[in-house]
Amino acid sequence: MSEVARLPGAVTVRDDPTGVAAGWIVEIARVAMAEGGRFRIALAGGSAARTLYQVLAVTPHRERTDWGRWEVYFGDERACPPDDPANNCRMAREALLDLVPVRPELIHRMEAECSDLDAAAAEYSSILASTCPTAATGSAPRLDCILLGLGENGHTASLFPGDPSLQVRDRWAVRSRADYAPFDRITVTYPVLNAAAHVAFLVTGPAKGEALRGVVEGRVPAAGVRPPDGELRWFMDTAAAGSL
Ligand code: 6PG
Repeated sequence: MSEVARLPGAVTVRDDPTGVAAGWIVEIARVAMAEGGRFRIALAGGSAARTLYQVLAVTPHRERTDWGRWEVYFGDERACPPDDPANNCRMAREALLDLVPVRPELIHRMEAECSDLDAAAAEYSSILASTCPTAATGSAPRLDCILLGLGENGHTASLFPGDPSLQVRDRWAVRSRADYAPFDRITVTYPVLNAAAHVAFLVTGPAKGEALRGVVEGRVPAAGVRPPDGELRWFMDTAAAGSL
């Protein structure tokens, strides 16, 4: 049995998984729009996510969705100005959001540049609560899709090993601390990740084997993403799959 089969959820391995991941997103967006009008998605940071956004922004996927019905959130943000090269929202704008007709008022940026990260996180919690339906179980906001990266230490979003944010169950976004710069962050919490209808990890490169083993063995933050009423998917390249 391939080692990737030990991961929770469905695993898709390709030399380049971005095309199949883009097609998956377009399809769940179609279903969400048919059922409720909008498609609510939280974007991730990182190079794997950026490559996926670049594929979504061009033919054929660009033409296959109604961008005007996308409502865009973020799973995490670094405490840096929105025009900083390290800013996740800036990356998403350059790779996708400035290239397609998403309505600006439906892009919800985490304002992590402000001096009071707790207040900014609380404001983002309110945005999630006021713009998303509530999950059937629990009271967390339910997004249609959440995209996540996987760090080499098994972090996801900005839920880092040993950080207090891992324990939060009554707030939807909190400040957190990374082990690499920019250190201060805002991240969505496990209740939001696990309330989602569809969650996909995007994992590429040969350096993720230890993190993937940590997921299988339940000892890294990404292992806590197990949506009970949602689909969990892994889109990874052959290098990442071979490193497990
Ligand atoms: C961050 C990034 C980070 C990223 C993972 C995977 O804010 O630091 O969002 O969590 O998603 O480190 O990054 P790669 O896709 O580049 O491996």
